[in-house]
Amino acid sequence: MSTANHTKDKGPVLLGVIGDPIAHSKSPVMMAAAFGAAGIAGEYRRLHVKSDQLEETLRDIRGQGFLGINVTIPHKVAVMDYLDELDESAKKIGAVNTIVHANGKLKGYNTDGAGYVRSLREEAVSDLTGKTVMLLGAGGASRGIVYALLQERPKRVIIVNRTEDKARQLAGEYSAEIPVEGYSMEQARELLLGVDILINTTSVGMHPQTEDIPLPVDIIPEGIVVSDLIYNPLETKLLRESRLLRGCKVHGGLGMFVYQGAIAFEYWLGFRPDVQVMRQAVLDSLT
Ligand code: ATR
Repeated sequence: MSTANHTKDKGPVLLGVIGDPIAHSKSPVMMAAAFGAAGIAGEYRRLHVKSDQLEETLRDIRGQGFLGINVTIPHKVAVMDYLDELDESAKKIGAVNTIVHANGKLKGYNTDGAGYVRSLREEAVSDLTGKTVMLLGAGGASRGIVYALLQERPKRVIIVNRTEDKARQLAGEYSAEIPVEGYSMEQARELLLGVDILINTTSVGMHPQTEDIPLPVDIIPEGIVVSDLIYNPLETKLLRESRLLRGCKVHGGLGMFVYQGAIAFEYWLGFRPDVQVMRQAVLDSLT
């Protein structure tokens, strides 16, 4: 991991998150906890930025000496126009969630997929090598996760989506070394038979529609790992039913949020933050 130009001893750091809306972002509370645990004097600002203010905001980020920012909806793609450099992750995923301001340049990264995979490895499956993984959904979140998963050498990645074309298109962006295939939701039943890990990347089941489920759990093989990117609720209906009715090991989305922030912190400050403290801060703010 590359390191930014600040260390613990260099005085207060200025960071922030841009998005629209931004009022409900948990990043400020999470980052404040990370700074506290690391003994850093830091300020992490919540910046409400509308699309037509993006260019001006990026100019301010440079001018006001921000060490970096996080980028959230709806700016993850548009912000790339205002950066000097893009990391491989951001190029391949086509979206940026973390910007590092170092040596007068703004460089974009994407830590969403890597954050998800680190969380999955820490909390559910320590080694993804040789595993068959199915993702539900073929949007931006799925794209980041496919990219990060492939670095872990799985045996096969299956993307299943309501709109089959989008699944095929996303799958088609990868070389054939590790098979990545796209299918329709209707084909999920048959394909699930060989799956080790099922990941929901769609918004189905998210608050307030918590009774929705992306597919019936009776087609999920018993005992596999089922993961959901959603963290509100902390346990979606998909996870609850997979755990109770299919004996699955389940993995919720909170860890992805925590680790995408932890990896951003590492890019900015050059060392690993205390993820347990970060997780607890988010949990406390949810209740
Ligand atoms: P994100 O960046 O969170 O991935 P997105 O790019 O809008 O958001 O993608 C949302 C994904 O969830 C898509 O794969 C979408 O399926 P379509 O491509 O068919 O639109 C999927 N999705 C959203 N709502 C859904 C629903 N009610 N049932 C099934 N899939 C759904």
